[in-house]
Amino acid sequence: MTTPRKKLIEVALPLPEINDASAYDKMPGIGPHPKGIHHWWARLPLPTARAVLFATVVTDPSDDPAWKDKGEQEQDAERERLFGILRRMMGKKLHEHPEVYAEAHAEMLKHCGGNLPPVLDPFAGGGSIPLEAARLGFEAHAADLNPVAVLLNKCNLEIAPRWANHPPVNPEDRGNYLGTRASRPHREWNSRGYLPHFDHPGLVQSITFRLADSVPADVIEKWRFELKLTGGEAANDPRCAELRERIEKYSDEGKGACWLRNPEIAEIVENALLHFDGERYRLLAWCVMPNHVHALIETMDGFPLGDVVHSWKSFTAKECNRVLKRQGEFWMPDYFDRYIRDKRHLDAVVEYIANNPVKAGLCGKPEEWRWSHLGARAGR
Ligand SMILES: C[S@@+](CC[C@H](N)C(=O)[O-])C[C@H]1O[C@@H](n2cnc3c(N)ncnc32)[C@H](O)[C@@H]1O
Repeated sequence: MTTPRKKLIEVALPLPEINDASAYDKMPGIGPHPKGIHHWWARLPLPTARAVLFATVVTDPSDDPAWKDKGEQEQDAERERLFGILRRMMGKKLHEHPEVYAEAHAEMLKHCGGNLPPVLDPFAGGGSIPLEAARLGFEAHAADLNPVAVLLNKCNLEIAPRWANHPPVNPEDRGNYLGTRASRPHREWNSRGYLPHFDHPGLVQSITFRLADSVPADVIEKWRFELKLTGGEAANDPRCAELRERIEKYSDEGKGACWLRNPEIAEIVENALLHFDGERYRLLAWCVMPNHVHALIETMDGFPLGDVVHSWKSFTAKECNRVLKRQGEFWMPDYFDRYIRDKRHLDAVVEYIANNPVKAGLCGKPEEWRWSHLGARAGR
């Protein structure tokens, strides 16, 4: 029989990092994400479960045969090394960092003679312990009296792993939302009919999309006819800029039903913009106007601009139509994008976005408009 050794959890833990990561994990208001669907009321935060599992298996250097006869300083240094692994385990979006789990797994194996023990949580509830155990490479088991808890654990431990790395069945939904990562090539220069676009990862893009009724299609058709636009124009054709300006001016007059005036609807749209910030793009500035939306993003490799905008529009159209109890087109089919050429251009676009509600006579100062990066920061 092997001698029981004192474990790290019995001696010391990097509590500030575990606390911070756990507070972030339990943060409310996550928005439209599977994690936000059902919260088990007494769920252990995932980082806590992760830390506890690791520190329960790993032997503290003070009782580890390799270190126990060495000096206190050397034991402290070794404990600090173990803390380093634990701290990396407290990082955000760990599903994007399998190397962190692999490092923890390898370390734990050293302390268990190459065989991790199985983990059983007989009161598993929301399943934090068995879920993290499975991610760390343990054989994980869960049980609970409550059938809802049993279903949650069945999904996390059996169903999700079975379908891991399979693309979604509905091709329309590939890469759109619900966390699916469909990496696709960017389209570089292209034209979607009447405005040219440049799509390249790492570019900062200013995007505008509008409610279906903000500028009637026949008005746009009339302008296209007047400007002799056929769809194959070069990116820098001044007639494209002229068309854009006419559309901007027209929709700033607040035409149409202006559903985005409704705070509940504006919030759905703002949350959608914020949802994949840092994951599929970096959101730099935004403004939800009564009948259109501006967003300034830096694109990221694997997430072409068209997919990002399609994801925002299709998700919010369904949600907003549901809240408004209506059907039919919510957004205009197309959107405008302009890539940012330099710092001066960037400053001008940020200023334009922030100032749009003032220019449209909706408020006196940019920060007074709740549905923009400035208003959100001002906490209005
Ligand atoms: C605090 S929650 C569990 C939290 C979970 N261990 C975690 O880490 O997130 C306690 C769970 O115990 C379950 N429970 C209570 N009495 C039980 C019993 N006699 N047998 C099995 N489960 C029970 C409850 O349904 C509840 O889901």
